[in-house]
Formats: sequence, C-alpha cells, structure tokens
Amino acid sequence: MAAMGNVIGLVNRIQRACTVLGDHGGDGALPTLWEALPSVAVVGGQSSGKSSVLESIVGRDFLPRGSGIVTRRPLVLQLHKTEEGEKDYAEFMHMPRRRFTDFALVRKEIEDETDRLTGRTKQISPVPIHLSIYSPNVVNLTLIDLPGLTKVAIEGQPETIVEDIENMVRLHVDKPNCIILAISPANQDIATSDAIKLAREVDPTGERTFGVLTKLDLMDKGTNALDVLEGRAYRLQHPWVGIVNRSQADINRNVDMIIARKKEQEFFASSPEYAHLASRMGSEYLAKLLSQELEAVIRARIPSITSLINKTIDELESEMDHLGRPIASDAGAQLYLILELCRAFDKIFKEHLDGGRPGGDR
Ligand code: GDP
Ligand code: NA
Ligand code: MG
Repeated sequence: MAAMGNVIGLVNRIQRACTVLGDHGGDGALPTLWEALPSVAVVGGQSSGKSSVLESIVGRDFLPRGSGIVTRRPLVLQLHKTEEGEKDYAEFMHMPRRRFTDFALVRKEIEDETDRLTGRTKQISPVPIHLSIYSPNVVNLTLIDLPGLTKVAIEGQPETIVEDIENMVRLHVDKPNCIILAISPANQDIATSDAIKLAREVDPTGERTFGVLTKLDLMDKGTNALDVLEGRAYRLQHPWVGIVNRSQADINRNVDMIIARKKEQEFFASSPEYAHLASRMGSEYLAKLLSQELEAVIRARIPSITSLINKTIDELESEMDHLGRPIASDAGAQLYLILELCRAFDKIFKEHLDGGRPGGDR
C-alpha cells in the first residue's frame, strides 16, 4: 500500500503544478482544487523567531535575515524526504533547471527574487516564491513563510504596510484547510501575541492552530512558561511546542544547525521545569507533529479531494481535447502534467480506501 508520506509529496506536486499553470487554470475545478489542498502557514510578529523555526525544521541555514521586514513575499517551502545518504539540494520553481547545493546561494536567490518583484523597496507582494528542498533529514511537509505582523510602519514604508501584511497573512489563514503555525516569543506576554490574536479570530476553537513558543532560553530568571506550554494560559486543541532556536550570537558564530538541535534537546532534558515535557518539545518534534497533522488532514479530506480531482480530470480531459495533441504550448504541457498527477492521486487514494483504512469524514 502506498505510504501516506507519498500522498503529501503528491499533494505538493499538484499544488506546484496548479501554481505554474496560473492564469491558464481558469475558474473551473482547478482553483477550487488548489484551495482544497491543505498547507501549513507560519504566522507571528516580527522577530518572533519564524525564520529560525523554519530553518530548524529543515536543518539548514537558508533564509534571509536582518531587522525590519525581511520576508516580503510568501515563501512556499516544500520539503521532500530523500533516501538516506543522498546529498541535500534545493530548487526554485522559477529556475527549474538549476540545482542548488550551496544554501548560501539559496538565501541570495530568495533575496534577489523578492527584489525582482518589489524593486528593492520595502514593499511587499502577495506573489509567492516556490522553493523545494530535498534531503534525507526532512519530513514531507509544505510550509508557507509569511511576512511578520507589525504594529507600525517604519521609515520608507508605505503607511498601509501594517494592514497590507495583515491582509496577506489573513488570505492564507482564512482557508479552512490551512494549518496555522502560530509563533510567539516566550519573553513577551502571550496575551499580546500577534500570532495568537490572529489565530483566535480565524480559528476560535483552536482545532487547526499549533502554538509554538520560542526564546524559552531568554526568559527572566525565576520565571517559566509552564502556564503556556501546559495549555492553561491559552487553550488549543493541539499541544503547545516549546522551542529554543539559535541566538543571534550563535548565528554570528555560525553554530551548526544540527548541533543547535542537540543543544535544544539538552536544554529541555536538563531543565528542572521542562524535563517532564522534554519528549514533546523542540523543532524536530514539531516537524514530525506537523507532518502527521498534514497527513491526517489530507486523510480526512480524501472523499472531498477525490471528488474534486475527478471533476478536475474531466475538465482537463475536455480542455486537452480542445487543445489537441501533441501539446505544443507550455500551458498544454502543464495541463497534461496536472492531469497525470491527478490520476496518480486518484489511484493512490483508491488503494488507500480499498486498503480498509477509510478517511475520517465519509
Ligand atoms: P522572524 O523575524 O520572526 O523571522 O525572527 P528570526 O527567526 O529572524 O529571529 C529574530 C532574532 O531572534 C534572531 O536574532 C534570532 O537569533 C533570535 N531568536 C529567535 N529564536 C530564538 C530563541 O529561541 N532563542 C534565542 N536566544 N534567540 C532567538
Ligand atoms: Na525578521
Ligand atoms: Mg523572518
């Protein structure tokens, strides 16, 4: 039977193919299919640790950093688990033929590609950058990094930036299939967290929000975050996950990500307050939790996704007949690719259902 991990990979590929198709998708089943496919969006205030959490999940250094609004376009990050011993590499959708093995160049390309649309100003753009990372050290997962929520515009930014960012983030987290990774720093009062404020609005019951508390190492001596981590301060359906990312000094000293992950585990295991939670804390645990959740959401949506997929197959087939074969245009080739992916998807889901493990909401 096909592993569900493959299904996440397949959802990834359909999402990517739908995006490449862009305007050619029309207003048929394809945009609806894209809407129906689940993803994980990372939200939080500026400097709450969003980029650090993403890098920890990936186990690589590859995101632009600095003060101010560094993330100015959504970054759709697809993680693909490869065979043990394979070398890590990255690919951008806008440069399909280039394989990046130097992650410093990945960072540079994210910066350049951001500037290509926003013109080196401090403007933001809702058009996503698509990046795939292939590594034996990741779990299959799609994450969307979004600009950090802010309260005030700084010099050189348009007055509307605060609202623009919030609207852009909202566009993603409003989707009922969006899993919200809400990042809050432990050295600030949780009651003032931008991430929790937004999550509470769009997901009041907390069923699709994962609360992440960063900077546990930066709390004042004599205080701890047990009220939050144990769900008393703000209750969610999923357990809170505490994180210790690299400090700015660690980053400046180029502390290796894998060593940082180990240090993080030690922090929890050796802490008198958090030791009893240690097996459910840290970025590695968070990555597994999210991958499982994404699988569960896909599984629960199998009936509705398959019916959409079948509708998409029908529409694509008639569109293909209309275009005629062999397909000459890029759009035609892309339609064909989506059709193939949808067929593969349908087949895997059928096997999955026939395997006697039906999805949740049939
Ligand atoms: P973003 O703006 O939300 O993407 O935040 P970043 O990930 O860029 O982090 C902002 C700053 O906080 C950086 O200097 C990080 O090194 C630091 N930082 C983030 N998480 C932690 C943490 O858990 N502990 C410590 N000590 N520093 C952190
Ligand atoms: Na930042
Ligand atoms: Mg960032």
